[in-house]
Amino acid sequence: MMRTLLFATIVLAGTAFAQFTQSLDNVTQAFTNAKIVPDVLPSFSPRALLNVTFTDASMQSVNVTPGIQLTMAQTAQEPQFFFLANVTIPPNLLYVVAIVDPDAPTPQNANISQFRHFLGGGFSVDSTTGLLMNNTAALTDFAPPTPPAGSDPHRYVVLAYLQPDNFDSIANQFVNASTNRMNFNITTFAQATNLSAPLAANFFLTGPDNSSSTGTSSSASPSGTSPGGSGGTSDASGKDMLGGLTWFMGLLVGILLS
Ligand SMILES: *[C@@H]1O[C@H](CO)[C@@H](O)[C@H](O)[C@H]1NC(C)=O
Ligand SMILES: *[C@@H]1O[C@H](CO)[C@@H](O)[C@H](O)[C@H]1NC(C)=O
Ligand SMILES: *[C@@H]1O[C@H](CO)[C@@H](O)[C@H](O)[C@H]1NC(C)=O
Ligand SMILES: *[C@@H]1O[C@H](CO)[C@@H](O)[C@H](O)[C@H]1NC(C)=O
Ligand SMILES: *[C@@H]1O[C@H](CO)[C@@H](O)[C@H](O)[C@H]1NC(C)=O
Ligand SMILES: *[C@@H]1O[C@H](CO)[C@@H](O)[C@H](O)[C@H]1NC(C)=O
Ligand SMILES: *[C@@H]1O[C@H](CO)[C@@H](O)[C@H](O)[C@H]1NC(C)=O
Ligand SMILES: *[C@@H]1O[C@H](CO)[C@@H](O)[C@H](O)[C@H]1NC(C)=O
Ligand SMILES: *[C@@H]1O[C@H](CO)[C@@H](O)[C@H](O)[C@H]1NC(C)=O
Repeated sequence: MMRTLLFATIVLAGTAFAQFTQSLDNVTQAFTNAKIVPDVLPSFSPRALLNVTFTDASMQSVNVTPGIQLTMAQTAQEPQFFFLANVTIPPNLLYVVAIVDPDAPTPQNANISQFRHFLGGGFSVDSTTGLLMNNTAALTDFAPPTPPAGSDPHRYVVLAYLQPDNFDSIANQFVNASTNRMNFNITTFAQATNLSAPLAANFFLTGPDNSSSTGTSSSASPSGTSPGGSGGTSDASGKDMLGGLTWFMGLLVGILLS
């Protein structure tokens, strides 16, 4: 898949390589434990880590570790996405990011799933931070999790794909501003738009705010539908999965990899 290219790089130093591989294994395992494979993806072999960072209304930030449980308040605003890899990340390629909920309206009766919380292409990687920055408008703007009262927590799956050249013209035929967020299928969409397997992914759990009316309301969903999904299998081992890595950020333009 990787073509020969000029690369700007985010490179791991020394022993961090082993940790990186273990982190990838942990993400893969967490996806299987939470049944995201096969519920969302037929298989999953990540090549990079996808850090997802939410910042809430009081400017508190939280990094998503696979299976972490977050509140509706924590996930109310569009997160930032970061690629972390042990190989050079091409600076001149674009990526597609999606967030889907396979548990809407409840994990027990997910008859409107997948609910599409976000879908956007035109993301490029900042070579020094790994930040994915969008250069085009999203196909589907971010809608925060709004699992309905009484629901178990839903799984929210964040996926990053390499973007094919003709994605913009093709994707619009399948998803545009008037396309219902409900009953989406990311696998079908990926096949239709020639996305290959996801390069990196992550997921979190969010349940309804069970506090009384003073709590965070769930009125944010533009469709009025409570998306959600829970695989219910929070993977405690995912805690700090991505942590402890020491990263060496370097710029190695001109190195040819194949
Ligand atoms: C990068 O990680 C992948 C997946 O663990 C591994 O197969 C590959 O050998 C690693 N590459 C380097 C240069 O360490
Ligand atoms: C989903 O199931 C619920 C409960 O059985 C039902 O009330 C609702 O109409 C169903 N929705 C769809 C879109 O089928
Ligand atoms: C990037 O996404 C944000 C949030 O969806 C949007 O407001 C902005 O217009 C997008 N940037 C471009 C260049 O389209
Ligand atoms: C709210 O209640 C549901 C159903 O009892 C539970 O599964 C969920 O975890 C609760 N949400 C939170 C944020 O505690
Ligand atoms: C928008 O997407 C729908 C499918 O959700 C498709 O039927 C329709 O043709 C698209 N509209 C445009 C203008 O491409
Ligand atoms: C999504 O589509 C794929 C392939 O088209 C299919 O195998 C899978 O069962 C679908 N997933 C759901 C949840 O319907
Ligand atoms: C997807 O890729 C195949 C093989 O390269 C090509 O024949 C087809 O036209 C592509 N489809 C789209 C929608 O670009
Ligand atoms: C991977 O998971 C194992 C078992 O839960 C844990 O001990 C280890 O610290 C994790 N590794 C990384 C790099 O997160
Ligand atoms: C990635 O996330 C982990 C924990 O989720 C965090 O420890 C680490 O600092 C993050 N790295 C970057 C470069 O954002």
